[in-house]
Amino acid sequence: MTGPFTARRRASVLRRGLLGFVLSTVLCWAGAGMAFAATAELSQDDKTCLGCHEAADLQKQLTNAETLSLHVNAEAFAKSVHAAIGCTGCHADVDLGEHPSAEKAIASARQYSLAAAEVCRSCHSDKYELYEGSLHAVALRTGNEAAPVCTDCHGPHDVGPKATYATVAAVPCKNCHSDIFDAYAQSMHGKARAQAEASAAPLCSDCHSAHEVKAASAGEGRKQACLNCHSEAVATHKEWLPNTELHFQTVSCPACHAPNATRRIDLRIYNAATSQQVASGETGVPRIEGRIKAAEAAGGKGLDPMELWNLISVFAREDSGAMVLRGRLEVSDGAEAHRMADKAKALSDCNTCHRAGSEAFRSVTISIARPDGRPERYGIDREVLHSPVSIDSVRGFYAIGATRIKLLDVLLLLALAAGVAVPLAHLTARWAFRRYLRKIEEEKAAAAAATGDAGATGNRGADGDASA
Ligand code: HEC
Ligand code: HEC
Ligand code: HEC
Ligand code: HEC
Ligand code: HEC
Ligand code: HEC
Ligand code: HEC
Ligand code: HEC
Ligand code: HEC
Repeated sequence: MTGPFTARRRASVLRRGLLGFVLSTVLCWAGAGMAFAATAELSQDDKTCLGCHEAADLQKQLTNAETLSLHVNAEAFAKSVHAAIGCTGCHADVDLGEHPSAEKAIASARQYSLAAAEVCRSCHSDKYELYEGSLHAVALRTGNEAAPVCTDCHGPHDVGPKATYATVAAVPCKNCHSDIFDAYAQSMHGKARAQAEASAAPLCSDCHSAHEVKAASAGEGRKQACLNCHSEAVATHKEWLPNTELHFQTVSCPACHAPNATRRIDLRIYNAATSQQVASGETGVPRIEGRIKAAEAAGGKGLDPMELWNLISVFAREDSGAMVLRGRLEVSDGAEAHRMADKAKALSDCNTCHRAGSEAFRSVTISIARPDGRPERYGIDREVLHSPVSIDSVRGFYAIGATRIKLLDVLLLLALAAGVAVPLAHLTARWAFRRYLRKIEEEKAAAAAATGDAGATGNRGADGDASA
């Protein structure tokens, strides 16, 4: 940063920070458990600054013709956690002897904010480091000025203690993600949290973190955050959901827990050898992306099974090696992912997904990871999930009933069995299920054999990893 906060000044800021810390600790003790919000007595210097800056109409004309309000609310500052460090705790560059000088040009209000927020780093380097690795910081570095810095979430002059930012009413995320906030507020979590802030129900930062925000759907999405609180979930789902681990890997939690959401399948491209998701910028990827884009633009439907298979073969031959597509069943819309409801409304009917023509399997995208981890999704012909041509291409993804139509009958049997008296249904279901699983194994073996043959005749495609 080339702004007003030089290294030397940072050092002096740091010293003041330590002093401020000691002061605030003393104040906390003096308050004997009282909230730190108790108004601090401002220093004479601060009162001098406020003598001018308390004026509501003090403002400055900026280079881009915006006006920057120079008003500072004295009462709010006195109540803030930073009252003890004083104005120059952050504005170390303001020297009353030379201030104000009208010479200082400020390009725009946003530029000013972005530069000024650097000062937080000098005393809160731990939070700063977490933040620097976040998607928000990456977005800013790559030119998205709408992404937040410290002061967008905390404000500059009315910073409160941690709890200030951890209520449904005041959570800073809602200022920019308002559609998501509205959906969240109607969820069982949002309602429980609003009713009792002290409850264990999550707020945005419990699922996304506050400073280390990452791409929401990267990897297995927020699954681990959910399981940190719902540690018993794998066990309770196992009571009725076969292959729970696999479902948890490929079906995002909101896909079942946001009951009215629309769903889709996202096919992700993995490098078969490294098991890493293929990211834009890797060898050959821009070319693949170009073709996927062109197909989407041309037909409206996107790549068809044959084109997909070709693409995979070419990639294996000429570029980084074998790739494999892994499917993920997810909610189609970011806001809807937050419209989660209590367990009675969750999807439990196998047939919602395991049947031909299932809604979720009608919308299919293929995605490539961007550098920040967010998927760049492209529409693709949904036939890629059903065509025999795709057995090789999408062998990393296999949802019976929905993607292999002939097994539908077994599922119907299951559904029927579930309708009979409970104990009988249980036995029948288990019997049917064992048969069902055996059938799947046979199918898989057949598919593996088929792709093995393809490999032997030179069309190795995505299967190259097995023999490479
Ligand atoms: C005599 C009135 C006066 C006093 C006292 C005063 N300011 Fe200012 N301040 C101004 C005016 C006027 C401007 C706008 C100057 C300009 O147009 O660049 C300004 C601009 C600023 C700015 C924004 C531009 C910049 O330089 O970054 C900051 C921050 C600021 N003052 C902080 C302070 C602090 C901190 C103090 C106390 C140490 C203080 N001021 C004392 C009048 C005052
Ligand atoms: C915790 C650090 C911190 C303290 C303490 C602090 N400021 Fe600021 N101040 C900032 C930051 C950061 C900005 C940039 C705000 C933004 O994004 O617009 C700023 C901006 C300003 C501005 C420009 C107008 C604006 O709001 O953007 C003025 C004037 C100012 N401060 C005066 C003061 C005065 C007077 C005090 C003491 C009463 C004070 N500041 C205390 C961090 C601080
Ligand atoms: C996207 C919004 C956001 C941004 C950007 C952000 N914070 Fe925070 N911060 C929060 C929220 C929300 C909390 C309270 C909840 C929590 O900690 O999970 C918090 C808590 C804090 C705390 C108290 C936490 C603790 O564990 O004691 C500090 C200190 C802090 N932030 C400093 C910073 C600094 C410094 C920056 C800039 C590097 C920053 N924050 C950027 C949202 C943000
Ligand atoms: C000169 C050092 C200094 C600077 C610069 C500074 N802070 Fe602080 N900050 C403190 C001290 C001291 C406290 C109170 C002690 C504590 O709780 O950590 C504090 C407390 C906080 C808290 C509440 C922490 C909690 O656990 O409740 C937040 C949030 C915070 N600062 C954010 C910021 C932001 C945002 C900036 C930049 C605009 C900033 N600070 C700049 C020294 C500083
Ligand atoms: C000042 C505006 C602003 C604030 C405040 C803000 N964000 Fe963001 N957020 C953005 C922008 C801009 C992006 C970049 C992505 C985009 O273009 O939509 C983003 C991206 C994200 C993403 C990644 C989205 C994805 O597609 O994976 C998550 C998750 C996120 N924010 C969560 C939060 C959380 C949690 C908070 C509060 C602690 C928060 N945001 C506060 C502006 C903001
Ligand atoms: C109970 C956990 C949870 C809470 C609380 C939560 N989120 Fe999310 N968030 C998720 C999940 C799950 C996803 C979807 C990720 C996926 O595709 O698997 C998501 C996705 C997102 C995205 C990306 C949306 C997109 O377009 O892809 C953003 C931005 C976001 N959340 C912000 C927020 C904000 C802001 C809040 C608070 C109002 C919040 N989240 C509260 C779990 C949560
Ligand atoms: C295939 C759909 C499906 C998926 C995927 C799914 N759930 Fe569930 N979940 C349900 C159903 C149905 C219930 C209600 C079961 C009942 O009534 O006992 C439930 C119940 C719950 C409950 C309530 C208490 C309990 O444990 O039974 C929690 C918590 C829960 N799920 C969390 C999760 C989390 C976390 C994930 C992702 C890792 C997830 N679920 C994925 C369908 C699903
Ligand atoms: C910070 C802890 C926390 C996190 C993180 C969290 N939850 Fe919860 N969850 C709770 C609490 C507490 C409740 C009970 C709310 C209430 O009182 O109704 C709850 C309720 C639920 C319920 C309703 C259970 C019922 O009995 O009806 C489901 C389903 C659920 N959560 C799923 C999820 C999913 C999916 C995620 C991740 C996307 C998640 N939770 C993340 C704490 C958490
Ligand atoms: C929300 C949609 C959804 C629901 C509801 C659902 N499943 Fe699945 N299931 C899937 C998907 C998607 C896969 C494919 C996983 C993969 O191959 O990556 C799958 C895989 C399976 C598999 C494993 C196949 C294999 O390759 O080993 C079985 C068995 C299964 N489901 C049975 C069921 C049963 C029984 C129910 C009802 C109790 C159920 N599923 C409910 C989506 C769902």
